[in-house]
Amino acid sequence: MPRTKFIAGNWKLNLTVEDGVALVQGLAKVVKPGVEVAVCPTALALYPVAQAAKGSAVGVGAQNAYWEEKGAFTGEISASLIKNAGAKYVILGHSERRQYFGETDATVNKRLKAVLAQGLVPIVCVGETLQERQGGQLQAVLKRQVEGAIAGFTPDQLKTLVIAYEPVWAIGTGVVATTAQAQEAHAFVRGLLRASLGGLADSLRLQYGGSVKPDNAKELLGQPDIDGALVGGAALKLADFSAIVAAAG
Ligand code: PGA
Repeated sequence: MPRTKFIAGNWKLNLTVEDGVALVQGLAKVVKPGVEVAVCPTALALYPVAQAAKGSAVGVGAQNAYWEEKGAFTGEISASLIKNAGAKYVILGHSERRQYFGETDATVNKRLKAVLAQGLVPIVCVGETLQERQGGQLQAVLKRQVEGAIAGFTPDQLKTLVIAYEPVWAIGTGVVATTAQAQEAHAFVRGLLRASLGGLADSLRLQYGGSVKPDNAKELLGQPDIDGALVGGAALKLADFSAIVAAAG
């Protein structure tokens, strides 16, 4: 079964509510069904951006979710509130969360459980640092991160899972992985998923992330195991993000 290409924009800590609404309104005009498209604004902009995207082919996602549903957890947002705000997707385990906010494979696993329980689509990020790659640890890191994230789930529970392979050294640096490096890592991740989940692995989408731009998107998206992109910097500009979406079509 062919896998529908999926392009998601990770706005990170950027854009005011007004700028986010304007960007999604612009996108809604140019995105056609056929490619799955989502934008992931800050938590504050989730609701207004989801309202602005309503009825269009653009979905909305959060950048993280806490594992508890409610209670005395100051500063956190839950999967159920994300759903309530009109979002459909949640990014989990982004390398910036791992690097700056103490995210671990075990906490990604807990968040994944909460996200799936709400029927939201998880985008689980994995990827090695430059030091790990140069130390020959690429496969060990990916194995630990992928298996750690999906530990304890049945294939049936993971039918919507999206994995984003994002080499840390390519994020926000302008240094994109070569097409061969990206495809090789994606094929390895799919192999890990096949070992854990069997045939489901062939229908799960794997996104590449790390300095995806209009001029490299087509070649990356043309690789057999690259089913989409998780886009940071280039997702903040309507023209660039639209061009990346067009490259997936
Ligand atoms: P970038 O970010 O496209 O700016 O490299 C990608 C990401 O962090 O998801």
